[in-house]
Amino acid sequence: MCGIVGFVSEKEENAGKILFDGLRKLEYRGYDSAGIAVISGDSINLEKEIGTLDDFEAAVDVDELNGKIGISHTRWATHGGVTKLNAHPHVSQDGNIAIVHNGIIENYQELKNDLKGVKFISETDTEVIVALMQKEIDGGNDFFEAFKKVLNKIEGSYAILAINARQPGVMLAAKNESPLILGKALGKMFAASDSMPLLMHTSEVIYLEDGEIAKLMAKSFEVFDLKGNKIAKTISKIETHIESSEKGMYAHFMLKEIMEQPNSLKRSLQQPYGDVEEFAKAISQARGVMLIACGTALHAAIAGQYLLDRIAQKHVNVINASEFSYLQTSLQKNSLVIAISQSGETADVINALKKIKQKGAKVYSIVNVEGSSIARMSDKTIGIKAGPEIGVASTKAFTSQLSILYQIAFALIGKLEEGRKEMDKLSGLARLCLDMNLDKTKALAEKLANKRDIYFIGRGINYPIALEGALKTKEISYLHAEGMAAGELKHGTLALVEKGTPVIAINPNDFVHAETLSNAIETKARGAFVIAISDKNNPVYDELLSIPGASEEFYPILGIIPLQLLAYQLAVVRGKNPDKPRNLAKSVTVK
Ligand code: AGP
Ligand code: GLU
Repeated sequence: MCGIVGFVSEKEENAGKILFDGLRKLEYRGYDSAGIAVISGDSINLEKEIGTLDDFEAAVDVDELNGKIGISHTRWATHGGVTKLNAHPHVSQDGNIAIVHNGIIENYQELKNDLKGVKFISETDTEVIVALMQKEIDGGNDFFEAFKKVLNKIEGSYAILAINARQPGVMLAAKNESPLILGKALGKMFAASDSMPLLMHTSEVIYLEDGEIAKLMAKSFEVFDLKGNKIAKTISKIETHIESSEKGMYAHFMLKEIMEQPNSLKRSLQQPYGDVEEFAKAISQARGVMLIACGTALHAAIAGQYLLDRIAQKHVNVINASEFSYLQTSLQKNSLVIAISQSGETADVINALKKIKQKGAKVYSIVNVEGSSIARMSDKTIGIKAGPEIGVASTKAFTSQLSILYQIAFALIGKLEEGRKEMDKLSGLARLCLDMNLDKTKALAEKLANKRDIYFIGRGINYPIALEGALKTKEISYLHAEGMAAGELKHGTLALVEKGTPVIAINPNDFVHAETLSNAIETKARGAFVIAISDKNNPVYDELLSIPGASEEFYPILGIIPLQLLAYQLAVVRGKNPDKPRNLAKSVTVK
C-alpha cells in the first residue's frame, strides 16, 4: 500500500516542499507515518514522523529541506508497528543510502540471517534492502550494480526508490507487483506510486513494468531489466486535470466524489461505441465469462451478474479475486475474464489475472485509472472516466462501473444507442437524488449514530446494493453493518433483530418490491426500526430515503446514492474522518 514520491533535479530546489506536496496527493494510500530524505551537501537529511501528513507538517519545517534530490513515503505498515524507527525512508548504517519501499519483502528473514554484523534498528522487512545495498557497495559495486544485485536477491512485492549521498545526481527505481510511474519534466525527473503527484509537474509519464530498473538523472533516464540489459521505453501523455484531485469547497473528498456523480455518470457514457461493442462481442463468443474484483468493485460485479442476466439473458460468474486461487476453475483459452477495479492496482486482482493469463484465457478490464497495472495487463480495457477518486470509500467509481456494465448489456442485445439515450437521464436523476437526501441523511445519521448494528437487505439487483451500503457504512463509520439478500434474513440474521435495530430495505418499486416489503415487515414485527430506500412509501417504514422514479433496471444507480450519503453522514456525526478510515488504504497493493 503506501505512497512514494521521489525526484532529481538539475538545480537546488525546495525539495522538502516538492516531496511533501506530492505525498499529499498520495495520502489516501496510507497514513500511518511519513518521512522524507533529501541529500543536502554530501549527507542525507532525514525527517520522519508517525501519524498523518498533518502531524508531519506540524513537526517538520519542510521549507528547510533543500536539495537536488530526495525521496519520500507515507506508510501503511505491514511489518512492524507504527513507530518512527519503522517509518521510511530507511538509511544504511554508513548513512549514505536511503530508500523507500512499498510492498513486502517475503524472504527478508532469510536475508537478514545472512547479514551478520548488521545492527537492524527497525522491525520492517524493508531495512534489509538498504543493509544489502551497503554490503554490495562496500564490496566494490557501484550504486546501480549494487541495486541490481539486491533486486536479484529479494523476493516479494516492491516499488523502491533509492538515493546515495556519494552519487547525488542519480535516483534508482524498481518495481515488482507494486505500482511505480516515472514523470519527465524540464530539468527534473520524478517517480511516484501513481500519476497524481506527477501531474503538478508534468503530463509526460513512463510506465515502469515488473522487473524493470530505472536510473533517473535530472535530464535523462534509462531503463534496464534485472540482468542489466537496456530496455527502450515510450513516454505517454496523461490528461487528468489537477483541480479534479482537489477537495474544493467540500469538507471531505468523499462528499465531493458523491456529489460529482451526475457528471461522472455523464462521462461514463462517452465511451467509443466500438469499445463497448467489443466487450459485448467477446462476452457472446466466450465459452464462459467471469467477473473478478474486490470490495466495492466486487459489488458492481455482482450487480453486473444480475443486470446482464435481466437485460441480455447472459449468465456470467462472479468471483472475489482474493479467493480465486483456491478454486479449480474451468477457465480455458476461449474463456473471458473481466476484471473490475477503480485503482487498477489491487494486488488480489493482479495476482488472479496473472494466473488467468497463464491459462491462456482472455483478460478484459473496466478500470478508472488510465495506464494502471490492470489496464496494461488486459487484452482490452474500458476506462470508466470517473476522474480521480481520493476518498478511501469508493463512490463515484461504483456508479460508473455499473454504467459500463449496463452499456455492455445493451450492446449485447444490439441496443447500445437506445440504452445510452435512456441512461442519459441518469445524470439528472442522480442530481435529484442527491438533493433529496443530503439533509435527510444527516438527520437520520444523528438518530443512528449510537446504534450497534445496522442491517441492509435487498433482493435481486438490490442485493449487491445492500452489500455495498453495508460496506460503505462499516468502513468509514465503524458501526457494524451487514448487507444480505432479504430472503436470507430468516436463515439466521433475524435472530439479531430486536427493538430498535435499524434495518435498511433497498426496496424500489420494481418487480421484487412486494417480496422485500414482506421481509421488512418481518423485521418490524421483531421491533426493527425500518428505513427504506424507495420511490414508493409504505406505512411500515419508520423512515424513507426517497429516490426518484426511474426505469426499473436503473434503480441500483440511484439506490446507492442515499446509502453513500448516509454512510458519510454517519462517519461525520461519529467524529470519524471518512476520507481516511483506520487500518485501510485506498489502493490495496499487498496480498
Ligand atoms: C471500497 O469503498 C473500498 N475501500 C474497497 O473495498 C475497494 O473497493 C477495493 O479495495 C477494490 O479496489 P479497486 O476498485 O481499486 O480494485
Ligand atoms: N513492508 C513495508 C513496511 O512495513 C512497506 C509497507 C508499505 O508499503 O507502506 O514498512
